[in-house]
Amino acid sequence: CEESTKCWGMESSVISGKTGICGIIGDPVEHSMSPLMQNAAFRRLGLDYLYVPFRVRRELLDRALEGVRALNIRGLNVTTPHKVAVMSLLDEIDPLAKRIGAVNTIVNDDGVLSGYNTDAAGFLRALLEKGIEPKGRNVVILGAGGASRAVSLVLAERGSKVVVLNRTLDRAKEVANRVSGVSRNEVRALELDRDNLSGALGKADILVNTTSVGMSPNTGESPVASDLLKPSLVVFDIVYSPVRTKLLKEAEEAGALAVSGLDMLVWQGAIAFEKWTGLAAPSELMKEEVARAVAGDEN
Ligand code: ATR
Repeated sequence: CEESTKCWGMESSVISGKTGICGIIGDPVEHSMSPLMQNAAFRRLGLDYLYVPFRVRRELLDRALEGVRALNIRGLNVTTPHKVAVMSLLDEIDPLAKRIGAVNTIVNDDGVLSGYNTDAAGFLRALLEKGIEPKGRNVVILGAGGASRAVSLVLAERGSKVVVLNRTLDRAKEVANRVSGVSRNEVRALELDRDNLSGALGKADILVNTTSVGMSPNTGESPVASDLLKPSLVVFDIVYSPVRTKLLKEAEEAGALAVSGLDMLVWQGAIAFEKWTGLAAPSELMKEEVARAVAGDEN
C-alpha cells in the first residue's frame, strides 16, 4: 500500500469513502503539472481530496461530462482541445469565461456544473503580484491562440492599450475583433514581422508571449530579436518549460523585468483550488512543486 500511495503522491493521507475527486480533462494530459501541484496543495492543507488526470478524446467529451455528474466529481480543470467545446455542456458559465469564450475550470455543485476561466485571472494575479499595474499601459501580445484570447481580454478590460501580433494575421484580427466586441477598449491586430514588432515595442510597456516559440525542446528559439528589448519593458512569457526561456534570459540581459509563465500556471491552479475547496491555496508550495518538476524534466 505504501508503494502505491507514494505513486499517487498521497504519502500522508489515505483515500476513503469521503474522498473528494478533482481532475483534469484534456488530450494529451500526460505532461500536465496540475496533478502534482493540486495534490501537493490538498496534502498541505490536510484535505481529503485527490486530483487525477483524465485523457478524454474529443468525441467523448459529452460522455465524460455526463460521467462527472454521475460520479459526483467535485471539480475539473479543462485543457486542450476541450476549452471551447466544453462550454455548451455546462449549466452555468461565469461572465468572464463567456467573454473570453473558453473555460478551464469546472465546479460541480450537486450536479450543477459551472464553468470559469482562471487562466485570465491567473495571468493578472501574476502581474499584480510583481507590482505591475497594466491599466493605461501599452501592451504587445504575441500569438493568437486560446491563451492570447484570455490575456488580451483581461488586459483590455483592465484598461491596457493592447496590440496583438501573430504570424497569421487573420487569427490576430479574430482575437482583436472578439475582444474589441466585448470590452470597451479597442484592440489592434498586426502581422508578426520585424518591422511591426520593432514599431510596437518602441511604445510598449509590457510584452506578453503567448506563442509556443521557445518551449522545450526548442529552447534555443525566441519570438523577439534581442536588440528589440529595452530596460523599461516588462516581459511576460507564458511558456513555463523551461522556466527561464531564451526570451526571458535576453529580457533580463537587456535590463527588463522578466515574469515567468510558471507564475500564471500556479495562479490559475490556485484560483481553481479555491473554487473547489473554498480555501486559500498554498500557492508558494504549488510553485515550488512545479518549479522542481520542470527543472527535473530539463535535466
Ligand atoms: P494556445 O491555445 O495554447 O494559445 P495555439 O492555439 O496552438 O495555442 O496557438 C499557438 C500560437 O503560437 C499561435 O498564435 C501560433 O501562430 P499561428 O496562428 O500563426 O499558427 C503561434 N506560433 C506557433 N509557432 C510559431 C512560430 N514558430 N512562430 C511564430 N508564431 C508561432
